Amino acid sequence: MLSIAEVSTKAYVGSKVSIRGWVYRIRSSGGVTFVVVRDSSGIIQCTARKNELPQDVYDEIASLGIESSVEFHGVLKEDKRSPSGYEIAVDSFRVYQKNDVFPITKDQGEEFLLDNRHLWLRSREFTSVLKIRSTIFRAFADFFYENGYYQVQTPFMVSTAVEGGSTLFKVDFFGEPIYLNQSAQFYLETMIYSLEKVFTIAPSFRAEKSRTRRHLTEYWHAEAEVAWIDNNEMMDIEERMIYYIISRVVEENEGDLRMLNRDPEILRAMKPPYPRIRYSEIIRVANSIGLPLKYGDDLGADEERQITMKYDRPIFVTNYPKDLKPFYMPVDPENPGEVLNHDLLAPEGYGEIIGGSQRIWNYDEMIQRIREANLDESAYYWYIDLRKYGSVPHSGFGLGLDRLAMWVMHLDNIREAIPYPRTIRRTKP
Ligand code: 4AD
Ligand code: MG
Repeated sequence: MLSIAEVSTKAYVGSKVSIRGWVYRIRSSGGVTFVVVRDSSGIIQCTARKNELPQDVYDEIASLGIESSVEFHGVLKEDKRSPSGYEIAVDSFRVYQKNDVFPITKDQGEEFLLDNRHLWLRSREFTSVLKIRSTIFRAFADFFYENGYYQVQTPFMVSTAVEGGSTLFKVDFFGEPIYLNQSAQFYLETMIYSLEKVFTIAPSFRAEKSRTRRHLTEYWHAEAEVAWIDNNEMMDIEERMIYYIISRVVEENEGDLRMLNRDPEILRAMKPPYPRIRYSEIIRVANSIGLPLKYGDDLGADEERQITMKYDRPIFVTNYPKDLKPFYMPVDPENPGEVLNHDLLAPEGYGEIIGGSQRIWNYDEMIQRIREANLDESAYYWYIDLRKYGSVPHSGFGLGLDRLAMWVMHLDNIREAIPYPRTIRRTKP
């Protein structure tokens, strides 16, 4: 059977067609019932007339509730007044399941919609969100495949922290405490010695107590690791990758962006190169807009929001103070208090979507930094080994796909960018 979008063309006008899907809207007046049906491809109006149908059939159609699952058959007509410009003059129908009242009506609160996310996913808005996410995930992988990278998989149950101990989720592993992975980075680093260019897409877990509009406790993390390149070359790749993903969404999901009131032209205009601004300079920018930050302070969600409101393209922030970043980032030989890192901040108030850096590849430097961070060297033996056997300069990054999706769709909260958000307060549905 054809989809609603496939049927809704001039070629089928005057022919008998069939569609199936769910009742999106229904109203009756003066012996005519208008049923707007939706499927994954779109919507179409199906018109049932009392004087053209057996009484029981007409009554059954007129009594369908929202989200009943149905199949309609009839002749396709052009009709300027219907939502898609086409309608089906119904001559027969089948009901798969008839509902009375669908629990979600237009004016329900946010918590109610979150509790009923399994049903709210069917809304036309969320259908568009899911389609755009699908494009983003695919485009990320395509970009790296097209550039000669290999996709790899890494464990989710781990015994070492990557991004510090404070956001680790502890799990009972047959009586032993282990953790849910915060980042695939260290495992990706082990794989560059066989493949040189690798990427992965996987959930990362963070016991984030912060209740912001951009933090989840489980999020989708897209990470890459590359041998032989430095921090600047890593940024070159990332800006091309971001624009590649944006362009694919604009090409493939223009209708979905419009459904979400996101102007595709704003995204199309975000061409690289993206400005590369040192952390020390960002502190000056922050001060110039009245934020009382001093050198050495971390940028929180709110500061990044205010700073990135000033920009119409993503910006890289480089050279963070060493103390603000994890132990694996090398110091900048020209500025020993700073590291060779980059965060990519999305414009329009969205803030950090990528965290990346060059990696320490010298053995002694690595040992020294692990000790400074008071970490247990023996737990990291395999990570340290990489600096003993054929170590090479390399860089990598992690992109929060839900944050990227949130920005691309211009959503208010990261919860609206993922089907089943996991936050400090939510583990259902
Ligand atoms: O900046 P982060 O912590 O960097 C790392 O994990 C590196 N090990 C990645 C790497 O170099 N391979 O996280 C990377 C990105 C952030 O920029 C953000 O987009 C996303 O992951 N992220 C979150 N997204 C949603 N909710 C959270 N709680 C997130 N924490 C990080
Ligand atoms: Mg970060």
